[in-house]
Amino acid sequence: GAPVTVNVSKLEPGQQMTVKWRGKPVWVIRRTEEMNENILELNDQVKDPLSKEADQPAYIEGELRAIKDEYAVLVGICTHLGCSPQFRPEVAPADLGENWLGGFYCACHGSRYDLAGRVYPNMPAPANLQVPPYRFDDENTLTVG
Ligand code: FES
Repeated sequence: GAPVTVNVSKLEPGQQMTVKWRGKPVWVIRRTEEMNENILELNDQVKDPLSKEADQPAYIEGELRAIKDEYAVLVGICTHLGCSPQFRPEVAPADLGENWLGGFYCACHGSRYDLAGRVYPNMPAPANLQVPPYRFDDENTLTVG
């Protein structure tokens, strides 16, 4: 499939947008500093904090799984059976519990991921969300693929 170019200049801090790449939803999330601090808080609670087992390009490293910490780019397909999880950025919502620090929730069978797409242990989903190949062409232009 062809690469897809996205203008992220209208994306507000804390917001998510979705683009289609190879027929799949790819999310771009503009993460706030607080969101990134919360991801780092979860390093000892997620299954694969450094994404050693994850499907991601070699140039994606570290806990935040991003070229620029501010922008998460993730394939929005659960690694269990392929549903598309919900973006749930809020902290401690009633339905997800007080330990929830923001992330993605898959309503199909209950898998939970943090805001870097890292799966929690003992979930139906075995692995972190995929990071697609991408690059920044300039400050506000991102190409997926
Ligand atoms: Fe997401 Fe099963 S498809 S938990």
